Amino acid sequence: MEEQVHIRSRNKPDVQGDAHPKALLRTIVEDGDYLRPLEHQHILKADQFDAQTLLQLFRLAAKYESNPDRFSTPLQGKILISAFYEPSTRTRLSFESAWHRLGGDIMSITDRSTTGIAKGESLSDVGEMFNNYADCVVLRDTREESLYEMRDTLRIPIINAGNGMDEHPTQAMADIYTIFKWRPELIKKDLPEDQRIRVGIIGVPDKMRTVRSLLKIFSVFSHAFEAVYLFNDEKDGNDDESLQDFKESGLNIIQAGSSFDELVPTLDVVYINTIAWTGDDFLTFGKSFQLDNNTPFKENAIVLHPLARGEELSTELDHTPFNWYFSQARGAVFVRMALLTCLVHRKGRVLDVV
Ligand code: CP
Repeated sequence: MEEQVHIRSRNKPDVQGDAHPKALLRTIVEDGDYLRPLEHQHILKADQFDAQTLLQLFRLAAKYESNPDRFSTPLQGKILISAFYEPSTRTRLSFESAWHRLGGDIMSITDRSTTGIAKGESLSDVGEMFNNYADCVVLRDTREESLYEMRDTLRIPIINAGNGMDEHPTQAMADIYTIFKWRPELIKKDLPEDQRIRVGIIGVPDKMRTVRSLLKIFSVFSHAFEAVYLFNDEKDGNDDESLQDFKESGLNIIQAGSSFDELVPTLDVVYINTIAWTGDDFLTFGKSFQLDNNTPFKENAIVLHPLARGEELSTELDHTPFNWYFSQARGAVFVRMALLTCLVHRKGRVLDVV
């Protein structure tokens, strides 16, 4: 009997994680004033945003996602420099897709050795040149510091698209946007206690920029979480001290070690990531964890993964209702569209046509 339930729940839709973004439009009352301070801002860390700014960004993202054909050119005449000095499938292409969808033009650098950096040019001088050529920069660099070295001379906004092990703020925005599309009621500050969710994160926040940024953005909405369990199979685990700030924000973080099998039937969201970038290479953590068709997920649970995937996430789950990781990657385009629109001061063009 149990086996029948198991099979039925895993064979549901062909399109996974396709919640209607319109639910967010209904849940979040529009107030564009919260987006105005984003004009010309650098985006460096996930905790630079307050809840209202994020919610208004998600509302704009949901507007884009609900009406993709209605907003074709708010960035017409604007130029993006897309500088990615570390491999990327999703972040680079989704930022570029977002900018193209909004009608802007792009200059892309995928190898720093094709710039004056190879001749010893400072990042500060490169930044000064970027000021002359574009309206916004998206940077992924293996070095944490590069972002800040460029920021100091830039007069156009720079967005952190992953700086070494440090942070990946727009990934975290896309992650929680996905969670809010799945359960829009989580946005409400007066959420009843019995509707708060339990999240399990397989990952190491001390070493993974996606997990660190995710916890920062969870902290902004700590009311939505009953508990956030951290799982890993490392001997030393996560540094308790580095979790202190999250705990002080009201996030109930519990270090759960390797007790994933025991807790997974109680988890509403399972987030998994196993890669940590270390300069020009990466380390893999959590090798003992594997999500597949035999994982005893709670019914209606969702699985998130920033991707790229490795062996930890079986393709068996791709065609099950647990797969929200593809929706997560798809939604990132709309979140980035919303953010880019606000940074380069073209929000007015969008709000006017709605
Ligand atoms: N999520 C993410 O950062 O993926 P990429 O490395 O492909 O950009």
